Amino acid sequence: MSVPIPLELVDALRAARAVVVLTGAGISAESGIATFRDAMDGLWAKFDPSELATPEAFARDPAMVTRWYDERRLRCAKVRPNPGHQALAKLEQELAREHRSFMLITQNVDRLHQKAGSVNVVELHGSIWVWRCVTCGVEKEYRGGAFDSYPPACGCGGVLRPGVVWFGESLPAEAIRASEKALAACDLFFSVGTSSVVFPAADFIHAAQAAGARTVEVNLEPTPVSHLADWSIFGKAGEVLPFLVAEKAAKQGD
Ligand code: OAD
Repeated sequence: MSVPIPLELVDALRAARAVVVLTGAGISAESGIATFRDAMDGLWAKFDPSELATPEAFARDPAMVTRWYDERRLRCAKVRPNPGHQALAKLEQELAREHRSFMLITQNVDRLHQKAGSVNVVELHGSIWVWRCVTCGVEKEYRGGAFDSYPPACGCGGVLRPGVVWFGESLPAEAIRASEKALAACDLFFSVGTSSVVFPAADFIHAAQAAGARTVEVNLEPTPVSHLADWSIFGKAGEVLPFLVAEKAAKQGD
């Protein structure tokens, strides 16, 4: 482990009563899923989000937008959770055993957290596995191969759109409610693998601090919230999180 973890952070994790973790695309990067804003290979470095991730883009060219999202869905099907996802699932299980609360709020749509075993997960931006008919509103999870045609057809004759939040759309009300409730009660907050430039997630560290929580950021580089965090750990989520969870257990004699 090349990244020093402050002992006070390990102690804070051992003592925490209610942990909230916010994740972004960075935690799935080590599984081989492209992030959005990494300069060279981020999705938004190669594609214009306004051409793909907005209701207007879908209205303009539903075939192109749904084909692009289906290609991302099929890429997600080929990858596996990495040690960062696994560490958060392990932490949730340990905290549950210790009768302490844990909530994972993710901006990711790949469901790799759930695949790793995380249970208390709030999907702020929906899921690329879920597709919704724009006519009858039916939502279904599609785990199979590529759709036969684009835009994919619903049985009712309508067309399917990906069940992800596009720019300009509201976040799922239940996801917001659950996030606000967890943030208001937490005493330790982690921001992992997010550039902290998309709201409301970018504001969550403020909500956690307002609740009196200590805050931690795990990222490869500084972000607009790094200066707010009690601890800024610069390193790969897939290395930092497993080490931190192991240190917690070791010091607890687990
Ligand atoms: P970004 O691509 O904006 O940011 C990814 C962050 O993860 C960056 O700060 C990277 O430095 C960091 N990172 C990359 N690899 C990492 C690793 N191995 N370990 C730790 N950190 C790493 O992705 P998000 O912040 O998730 O929304 O983007 C937020 C939202 O903007 C997404 O949910 C998506 C996007 O547009 C919509 O599409 C609505």
